[in-house]
Amino acid sequence: MPSSRVHIVGLCGSLRKHSCNRGLLNALKDQFSSEVVFTIADLSEIPLYNPDNELPYPDSVLALASMVNQADGLVISSPEYNLSYTAVLKNTLEWLSRRSLGAHLAGKPTALIGTASINVAVSQSHLRDVLLALNLDVLTRPIVQIVDTEHDKFDDLGNLIDVDTVNMLIRVRDALLEAIG
Ligand SMILES: Cc1cc2nc3c(=O)[nH]c(=O)nc-3n(C[C@H](O)[C@H](O)[C@H](O)COP(=O)(O)O)c2cc1C
Repeated sequence: MPSSRVHIVGLCGSLRKHSCNRGLLNALKDQFSSEVVFTIADLSEIPLYNPDNELPYPDSVLALASMVNQADGLVISSPEYNLSYTAVLKNTLEWLSRRSLGAHLAGKPTALIGTASINVAVSQSHLRDVLLALNLDVLTRPIVQIVDTEHDKFDDLGNLIDVDTVNMLIRVRDALLEAIG
């Protein structure tokens, strides 16, 4: 991949096939020009973190670290599970935080978006705390916390169908590109 292009990596906290959070990431990806390489990472092969089995790092973890290192910015979208973000995402962040893995997180501009059934603010607050501990440069605005109680913002395949949310994502795009500089 040519280094002059902007690279963005999306991390989705849900492994569900028709995940609305992946739908949100896909809708955000659609807002960028073709000059931006936007890759949604596959977290389905990341094993549960266990210090006893850390080395050698699994191929899936090495591939993710390499993708993150090439990224100029990150976008994380997670549902809320029991008033926090998901174990899938927490597990991924635990791997990425391991110093010898060499994933360069510090200072990386990172936008948070997310959708859940009735509430997503608490989970994003938890996530924000952990990302600050990892020294990521987490954007404070815009806040994108999409509540879909009426099931009218996503179709059955998890595709975003709500124009107001698309407009919010355009603001995320602009904020992220500005932070990347
Ligand atoms: C274990 C579990 C816990 C959940 N807890 C919450 C919750 O605390 N708040 C909420 O709004 N939705 C909760 N939900 C609903 C999910 O946020 C909702 O199904 C969301 O659409 C899942 O995201 P996805 O479509 O990206 O998979 C929970 C779902 C599961 C499976």
